[in-house]
Amino acid sequence: MIIDVLTIFPNMLDAYLQESIIKRALEDEKIEINVRNIRNYSKLKHHQVDDTIYGGGAGMLLMFPPFYDAIADLKKADTHIILTTPKGKTLNQKQVESLSKKKHLIILCGHYEGIDSRIDDLVDEQISIGDYVLTGGELAALVLIDSITRLQEGVINASSHLDDTFSENLLEYPQYTKPQVYEGYEVPEVLLSGHHDNIAYYRRYQSIKETYLKRPDLLKDLSSKDLEILNKVKEELK
Ligand code: 6GU
Repeated sequence: MIIDVLTIFPNMLDAYLQESIIKRALEDEKIEINVRNIRNYSKLKHHQVDDTIYGGGAGMLLMFPPFYDAIADLKKADTHIILTTPKGKTLNQKQVESLSKKKHLIILCGHYEGIDSRIDDLVDEQISIGDYVLTGGELAALVLIDSITRLQEGVINASSHLDDTFSENLLEYPQYTKPQVYEGYEVPEVLLSGHHDNIAYYRRYQSIKETYLKRPDLLKDLSSKDLEILNKVKEELK
């Protein structure tokens, strides 16, 4: 996959992309990420990219032409264009999974009051990362890049995202590592048993319990087996 990001603050993204799993994915060519300064597409004096708002109102707006020209330059037949904006649809794991299968993404980062609304006609979708307002779209672009990159083949051990929180609409079960006991805090006995069926059941139970307690809105379309477990959870918590 190739991701082109258009921003007025490329350094904000570069720092994050140069560490840890994303860094390795770039080195291993599991993904190509081009952070592009939108100023390079301005034809105005001093590479101006923003101006005051027609009709009045506070603040500045990013201009349409640099984004139009950048898209004209970068867009290919199979390109999917995303605008980051608090007015967009809220991102979730299902959408990340679908985006992770695209060949080429262009992510546009808004700033100030946003981008001239003519941009709406050029984008395939508008994405928000939650119901709050950020100073700009760069963090949202990084959230997209990070969540998409970890799903690219060979980036992380495939079996480790089968049980991810939100895969199957459930929160992940609790996990523990050494030491077995610390200051009286113990690892649940069943995990030390080596009994695979019991461990699998325990984890499913905990997953459903966590979801019931913290995100009951996610609990829908459960299988009959999971419904049975949910009833046991409710019984336990009575
Ligand atoms: Cl994508 N951009 C901005 N500026 N604020 C946000 C957002 C995006 N998502 C949530 N808040």
